Amino acid sequence: MEKLQQKITEEGVALSDTVLKVDNFLNHQIDPTLMYEVAQEFIKRFENKTITKIVTLESSGIAPAVMVGLILNVPVLFARKKKSLTLTDGLITSKVYSFTKQETNEISIAEKFLSTDDQILIVDDFLANGQATLALIDIVEKVNATVAGIGIVIEKAFQDGGKMIHDKGYQLESLARIKSLKNKTIEFVSEEEF
Ligand code: G4P
Ligand code: NA
Ligand code: NA
Repeated sequence: MEKLQQKITEEGVALSDTVLKVDNFLNHQIDPTLMYEVAQEFIKRFENKTITKIVTLESSGIAPAVMVGLILNVPVLFARKKKSLTLTDGLITSKVYSFTKQETNEISIAEKFLSTDDQILIVDDFLANGQATLALIDIVEKVNATVAGIGIVIEKAFQDGGKMIHDKGYQLESLARIKSLKNKTIEFVSEEEF
C-alpha cells in the first residue's frame, strides 16, 4: 500500500536492526485517516471472504480493527492481555511467547462473543515472529469458528511470522512488508518479491 509505505518512510524510525518505531501514526498517536484507508485496503484484499467479526489484540491492533468493523458493519473483538475484574468466567485463552521479552503471557477472549458460525478476520498492527497472531488463531479455532484471513498493517518480513502463517494455509495480507532495518534504513520488500 503506497500511502502507508510513504508514511513509514517519512515518519518511521529504525530503532535497531529489528525494531521499527511508528508511534507517530500507529502505536501511540493514531492517524485516523490513514487507519481508515488501511481498513479499505484490507476490505479490498478480503473481498472474496465473508466476514462476520473482526478479532484483534489490545492495544495497537484496535485502531485499524475498528475501522474495518466500521466499514463492514460487524463487531470488533479484542483479546485482552490482562485478566479483567469483571470478566472471569468463560474465557478462552492462549499462550503468547515473546522472543524479545523471553516470557510467556496469556491472552483471552470471552467465549460468549464467538460462535461456531463466525467467519473471523484477524487484524493486527505488527507481524514479527507471529506468536501473537498464532494465539489469536488458536482462540478462534478453539471455539470452532473460522479464520477467514489475517490482515497485518506492517510485517517485518525478515522475521518468521509471515512464512509460518502462510505455510499453515491462511490468507495473509500485509499492507507494508519490511525487508530490512539495517543501517537505520527502512527497506521494503518490492512488489515483485511478494
Ligand atoms: P516478539 O516475539 O518479537 O517479542 O514480538 P511480540 O510478537 O511478542 O511483540 C511484542 C510487541 O511488540 C507487540 O506489541 C508487537 O506488536 C510489537 N512489535 C513487534 N515488533 C515491532 C516493531 O518492530 N515495532 C513496533 N513498534 N512494535 C513491534 P504489544 O506489546 O502487544 O503492544 P501494543 O502496542 O499492541 O499495546
Ligand atoms: Na500489536
Ligand atoms: Na505494538
